[in-house]
Amino acid sequence: MWFPAFRSRSTSAAVAALCVGSALVLPVPALSQTAATSAPVSAPAPASASVRYDLGYNIFYPVRSRNGMVASEHRLATEIGVDILKRGGNAVDAAVAVGFALAVVLPNAGNIGGGGFMVVHDAKSGRDVAIDFREMAPAKAFRDMYLDQQGKVVPDRSLYTHLAVGIPGTVAGLAHALEKYGTMTLADVLAPAIRLAREGHTVTPQLAGLLEVERDHLAAWDATKAIFFKDGRPLTAGETLANADLAKSLETIAQQGPKAFYEGAIADRIAAEMAKHGGYITKDDLKAYKVVEREPVSGSYRGYTVKSMPPPSSGGTHIIQMLNILERWPLKEYGPDSARSIHLMAEAMKLAYADRSEYLGDPDFTKVPVKGLTSRKYADELAAKIDPEKATPAGSIKPGKPAPYESDQTTHFSVADNQGNVVSTTYTLNLNFGSGIVAEGTGILLNNEMDDFSAKPGVPNAFGLVGGDANAVQPYKRPLSSMSPTIVLKDGKPWLVTGSPGGSRIITTTMETVIDHIDFGMNPAEAAALPRVHHQWTPDELRVEKGLSPDTVRLLEQMGHKVAVKPTMGRTQTIQLREDGLYGFSDPRNPDGMTLGY
Ligand code: DON
Repeated sequence: MWFPAFRSRSTSAAVAALCVGSALVLPVPALSQTAATSAPVSAPAPASASVRYDLGYNIFYPVRSRNGMVASEHRLATEIGVDILKRGGNAVDAAVAVGFALAVVLPNAGNIGGGGFMVVHDAKSGRDVAIDFREMAPAKAFRDMYLDQQGKVVPDRSLYTHLAVGIPGTVAGLAHALEKYGTMTLADVLAPAIRLAREGHTVTPQLAGLLEVERDHLAAWDATKAIFFKDGRPLTAGETLANADLAKSLETIAQQGPKAFYEGAIADRIAAEMAKHGGYITKDDLKAYKVVEREPVSGSYRGYTVKSMPPPSSGGTHIIQMLNILERWPLKEYGPDSARSIHLMAEAMKLAYADRSEYLGDPDFTKVPVKGLTSRKYADELAAKIDPEKATPAGSIKPGKPAPYESDQTTHFSVADNQGNVVSTTYTLNLNFGSGIVAEGTGILLNNEMDDFSAKPGVPNAFGLVGGDANAVQPYKRPLSSMSPTIVLKDGKPWLVTGSPGGSRIITTTMETVIDHIDFGMNPAEAAALPRVHHQWTPDELRVEKGLSPDTVRLLEQMGHKVAVKPTMGRTQTIQLREDGLYGFSDPRNPDGMTLGY
């Protein structure tokens, strides 16, 4: 639903290059990702007509630059980020500007009415920090709020009603990052988003398609219809989408800071919207919202250091858990998308997702055994359960016993500057356009993140994920997430910045991207083009993208996997920092995405 079938694996972004031996001979020095829609602005390569680059797997050519790079799901947002870098802003300044711009141009996922996570590598201190601006449940929320009197889950209550909305964290999170790690003012980084919201931007075929798919949800609310509909139907490709109320909201934030959103005029309007429709969020709740800085979860994989998002995301923990398991097999020798590599990955995925259902939740409310789950010793135990030749039925896998507790819509963007700072951000409204509800007078779409809580033990959420006590609804608790903004370091320096949307598939997509670069020596374009696979323990299904060879599928079936070919998974935005410059690519699964550098 959040990932409609029309998102075909278009190869519009795949730029053919001429291969000579193991090096590429580039026919032109500078390339941009989507030549059809915008002028090429990636950094010029050295002026020589045929420059040799070691591009690893040598099939697809990434965008390349030397000074800075932004990869996001919309050209306009990417351009805004690059412009900030060119003006001397650092990666955090650019990331915050991109975050606000996406709230305007990518309204299905970019947001100020949602929440997310940002992992920053701060070059000056050499530190990595994880900024948690995930939504929180309002004070009145309670465990069984999505059940009827018979104890059954009420369909759609956690998705398309005012009860679906968590207290938004994006404005607080972006402002926090800017204040602590950026160099520019909030007004500076908000200015381009304000202009876009006021003047409007052209609806792309992708956005038009999503508006059509979500037509009924959006049409339910007058304030939403007033923005996204014209003559009683959703805006279509080529029409202009402007949002004067959103421009005003952003301008108020630029003038008064995040307080405007959490205590001022915007808070008044959100609270009024909630009161009018039986939602729980009050002004006190908005005032109570807190950004939390956390230590990233950390692991090592074949000599690289992986830093990713800790709980309340499950992403980083399980990426490291799976990499720990997989490190003992020579995946490079088995090859990308070989039955053997996929089988081992699928087995590791099942074990990790079984643990997810049991142990993961908001660490401020429930003890999460992150150390145990990411320990080598536990990986040894789990790996011993894997039969390298045969699939273990998911039904016979139960959550393991790690060492006891130590004490369709999201978007990702990656930014690197020329000072060694990198930023990896994933933020979301949950499903496309979130709850579909615009708080009247604000132009702000509100999330439906409450669906990421476990409404009832064992009952799957919109992503088919199950959970229990650790992820039950509680006041001011953060729902468990899969978002996995990730930075990989080599010798202590950023080497890869990546992440993806895709609900439960975020974790596996991100892990596969790390493996594609480390084990298979791929560049960001090649990694993005490779068909992906996913298993989440329940259902017992090995989901694969179109493009995997029928031979491979047959081999996997012979090993006992139930293989299902389904629509595309994930939309990575990846930057690789190599000695000879920055290499980046926006996943071709969304042709609107664009990576640019300078
Ligand atoms: O936080 C999470 O894990 C989900 N709310 C993410 C939703 C998502 O990725 C939807 N999109 N593709």
